[in-house]
Amino acid sequence: MKYYVLFGPPGAGKGTQAGAMVERYNLCHISTGELLRSEIAAGTELGLKAKALIDNGNLVPDQVVEDMIEAKFRGTKGVDGFLLDGFPRTLAQAEALDSMVEKHGENVTACISIMIPDSLIKTRIAHRALVEDRADDARPEVVEHRIETYHAKTEPLIQFYKAAGKYKEIDGTGTIEEVRSRIFEAMD
Ligand code: AP5
Ligand code: MG
Repeated sequence: MKYYVLFGPPGAGKGTQAGAMVERYNLCHISTGELLRSEIAAGTELGLKAKALIDNGNLVPDQVVEDMIEAKFRGTKGVDGFLLDGFPRTLAQAEALDSMVEKHGENVTACISIMIPDSLIKTRIAHRALVEDRADDARPEVVEHRIETYHAKTEPLIQFYKAAGKYKEIDGTGTIEEVRSRIFEAMD
């Protein structure tokens, strides 16, 4: 089984690129952001707790997302691996992921990191706010806070995966097709 981490700041294009990646490599796409938004839409207890954190651009507790990932690993059959979009996002989550995959006798395969500058994050998210209805995209101060949270809590994972020899950085600027070819080239 392959375990790919799809890494990158908010608006880098993780969700956009995931579809073609799962199709080409027969992977199961797990986006913790999408899973959390479904919980909110369904009005579950977890969703209610997560909503205020997400709408203000804060991370939900590590254990919450770790449990979601573990459940998906257990419940998914017939794929060659997993594409983890937006997980891990803290060092504690990265360590928890290592333990989870080790339990299955496996290792994280690679961290595919889509990189764009902060200025482009804002342009992309402002554009998405016009076509999708995400509460965390609506207010510029929340977008700013998500970017700060990314730099403070998530960016250290770059060093974590570099040290493990698993870090592949992809230039996320340019068209969707250009970024997709760079990703395929790296993964092939
Ligand atoms: P999540 O849903 O993961 O949001 P995010 O990381 O902020 O990333 P986005 O989904 O905003 O960006 P993306 O990289 O998918 O970009 P996209 O492809 O849409 O998380 C949301 C929240 O949930 C978090 O803030 C947190 O509260 C919580 N959460 C989630 N995971 C968690 C975890 N592990 N731990 C704790 N809390 C967690 O692209 C963006 C836009 O740009 C789109 O409109 C797209 O069409 C456009 N676009 C993409 N590529 C291009 C291109 N090449 N050219 C032009 N436009 C492009
Ligand atoms: Mg996304």
